[in-house]
Formats: sequence, structure tokens, C-alpha cells
Amino acid sequence: MYIDCSAKELFVLKKISNAAEELGMQAFIIGGFVRDKIIGRPSKDVDVVCLGDGILLAEKVAQRFSPKPVVAFFKNFGTAQIKLEDLEIEFVGARKESYSSDSRNPVVEPGTIEEDQNRRDFTINTLAISLNKQDYGSLIDPFNGLADIEAKNIQTPLEPVQTFIDDPLRMMRAIRFATQLQFEITKTTFQAIKDNKERIRIVSQERITDELNKIMATAKPSVGWHLLFTSGLLSIIFPQMVDLAGAQYIDGKGHKDNFYHTLQVIDNICKHTDDLWLRWAALLHDIGKPATKRFEEGHGWTFHGHEMVGARMVPKIFNKLKLPMNEKMRFVQKLVELHLRPISLTKENITDSAIRRLLFDAGEDIDALMLLCNADITSKNKFKVKRYLANFEMVKKRMEEVEEQDKVRNWQPPITGELIMETFGLKPGRNVGIIKDAIREAILDGVIPNNYEDAFQFMLLKGKELNLAPIS
Ligand code: CTP
Repeated sequence: MYIDCSAKELFVLKKISNAAEELGMQAFIIGGFVRDKIIGRPSKDVDVVCLGDGILLAEKVAQRFSPKPVVAFFKNFGTAQIKLEDLEIEFVGARKESYSSDSRNPVVEPGTIEEDQNRRDFTINTLAISLNKQDYGSLIDPFNGLADIEAKNIQTPLEPVQTFIDDPLRMMRAIRFATQLQFEITKTTFQAIKDNKERIRIVSQERITDELNKIMATAKPSVGWHLLFTSGLLSIIFPQMVDLAGAQYIDGKGHKDNFYHTLQVIDNICKHTDDLWLRWAALLHDIGKPATKRFEEGHGWTFHGHEMVGARMVPKIFNKLKLPMNEKMRFVQKLVELHLRPISLTKENITDSAIRRLLFDAGEDIDALMLLCNADITSKNKFKVKRYLANFEMVKKRMEEVEEQDKVRNWQPPITGELIMETFGLKPGRNVGIIKDAIREAILDGVIPNNYEDAFQFMLLKGKELNLAPIS
């Protein structure tokens, strides 16, 4: 076998080979599995191409296992899938495919293995391994995919324009593979992406966003975002990101380029978290800056309120990108809104009250917020960075002390609205809200400790101010 496979994988491949032989069919493994095995990346999705009916082959393979795995098949596409423990094996007949230029629907016909290889996206994805008796395990590499893996090149097997016209998502895939594998897109292939960028508009948002999420899951998403920007794709799929780019100068005073700052922040945070949504929060933390940019005489550039404007943009961006409109979105929104708070605390005399309010507002997301703020420190000035980090550690320490003492992080009000109504014989209404808010504010300001007894006494006092008396 040309590639290194585990004993279990070899066992499965042999069964496929025997089943194909019994049917008098030729079969090959192809694409991502072969590529990843050569690179040494883990891979669990095996694509099998056969010269004949893929569903029939899948059925024959399944029969060779006990218990027999389920064969999930899609008659329209002529594909079938079986799962064997952690391996997902997909079977398809070799095809040649062509797309008419005004439609996304391909015309598909049976083809040879070479025809199947040349309709694929990149040379590194065309590599096939024979499962046929006469040359079992040998590599079939008509497009020098192996050399491209060694040279870390991403290029198309055909004229790039043809490959991208066949499926414009491949422009995003090129950039995603470049980011994931730390490979380079060759000059001609990249030029073709620039020239054909407009065609991305016919691709569904779900497929585009899938690629964006894959870029976001890599160790260095900046590579992908930078390539999206320079190819021109970004201004079509996510123009708000492009608005961050560039530095304007007035009276010799400039501001930092917020696009490159953002890319640095996203790479920083990726060193500390795999959480996709925290990564999105890092990407969007300054998205409100272009809309709030002002030049103030004698002061320079300001972005007042960019965190609030940015937070308001988050649902619109999530909606457009078809990212989930649920608690994940609200988490991102909250972090964008709060991203300046810990840093602003390091600039003033920190009161317990300010710390308590931050803990209260961030709630269970405080650790994520602190990671974001830390990642946001990208100054080139070593002394500034040292000072920020020192202050930052101090804020963290103070947060621990205040939390230890007041437990406001997952704060539940010690007095409920029901108890207020019961105590004063009230129906739901304004006064209940006034008393509840007053108790919360008193606790956050440190006027009273965070416990039931003190909060109850405070409630009575507040009731009195509102001319309310307890009913018993
Ligand atoms: N492919 C293609 N054009 C596409 C999508 C896929 O040519 N738009 C081909 C490639 O040969 C690819 C194979 O189909 O290797 C399998 O596709 P997929 O599973 O999406 O990609 P992988 O290469 O396996 O990579 P990943 O699993 O990381 O997406």
C-alpha cells in the first residue's frame, strides 16, 4: 500500500477490493483520504470511486461485514455511504461532469478514472490508490499531485478558470486548504480566483459559511482572511470586514489598520481556545469601528461607542452569513459589547463596584471575555504591552477577590419579584421592578452585602420610601 494505513483500515480496504473483484469492477480510493494520509493528517472519510455502480459496490461491501452496516444511498447522485466504527466510506461511480456556464447543475455521465480525477478541484485532491488485484495499493497520479504536496502547492488540475467555473466554491476551498495545510496557492490559480471572484455569488451562503468556519477552526485563520481580502472575494461575501482595512491620516496623525489588527487578534486567541464562537467574537470585536470613526481636533482619531455599534451589527452579520441566530450569536454579541470593559478598568482606579459590575454583566462568560481582551493587546510598543499585561493581571486578581467575597459571577437576586409582591401585597407592576432594581444596584455598588438578610431589610426600606408597608 502506497500510504500508511492502520491494520483496521487495511482490513476494510481489502474487503472493498474483494467485493469489487467479485463484481468485476475496478475501484480506487481517492481525494482527501489519500492526500491526508500522505501529509500525515488524521482522516476518517474514505472516498471510493469505482468504474460502475457505486451503490451496488457499497451493498456488496456491506454484506462482507457482520453485523451488516446500513447502506445509506442517494439514488439521484448514484452515491452510497456506510459507517464502520469511526470510518465513513462513500462510494461513487467514476464520473465526468460538466457545468453549463449559467447553471449550477452539472451534467454527469459515467467516466474513466482519469476523467474522474481531472474534474476534481486541486491536484493534491486528485491522487488515487488502486484497490485492483493487478496493481493493488499503487498510486495513480496523473496531475503530479504528490509533487504538489511536497512543494506545498495548491493548483487546479485543469486550466483554473475551467475548474472554478465548474464550481465557484472551489475558490473558497483553495483558500481554506491554504489555511488548513499551510500551503500556497500558485500564482496562476490565485490570479484565476481574482478574475472569477464574481462567480461566488451563485454559490449558496451555507456552503460559503461552511468554508469560513473551517478557516476559523485552523491554527492561523489570518492566512485565510488575508487571502479572501487580497483575492477580492471578501468584499463580495463580507464587505463589513473590508471596511476595517486601511489607515487614514489627517495632520500627520493616523490610526491603526483595523483589518490587520483584527487578524492579529484572531490568531492570538486561537492559541488559547478552540471555541469557534469565541473566535468569531475576536473576528468581530472591532466591526463597529468604521461606522464610529471620527477625527477630533487636537485629539486624533476616536471610535467612541464602537463596541455598542458593533454589538448591534452582530445579529445582522450572523443572519446574512446564515450563522446560528441563537445563544451562540448572543454570546458573540455580548463579548463584542463588553470587549473594552476589562481594559478600561486597567486605566482607572479600580473600585470593587466596577469589578462587581463587570462580573455581573459578563456572568459565566467572564473567562472568555478576559481571553478576548488579552488577545486584543497587539501594540508594537513593548513597554505599553508590559504595562497592559501587568494591569490586566491585577484586574484578574481583583476579580478573584471580589468574586470570592461577593459571588456575583452567576448572580441570582437574593430577593425575587414574587417575594416582593407577597411582602407588600402587590400585583405585578412598576413598584416591583423599582424595588428589584434598587436591590441589585445596592449589591453591585457594595451598599449592602450579597445575602438574603441584608437584601430583605433593604427591600423593607425601599418599600417605605414608596409608601408601601408589609402586609403582616
Ligand atoms: N471535490 C471537488 N470540488 C468540490 C468539492 C470536492 O473536486 N467543490 C473533490 C475533491 O477531490 C475532494 C473530494 O471531492 O478531495 C472530497 O470532497 P470533500 O470531502 O469536501 O473534501 P476533502 O478533500 O475530503 O477535505 P475536507 O474533508 O477537509 O473537506
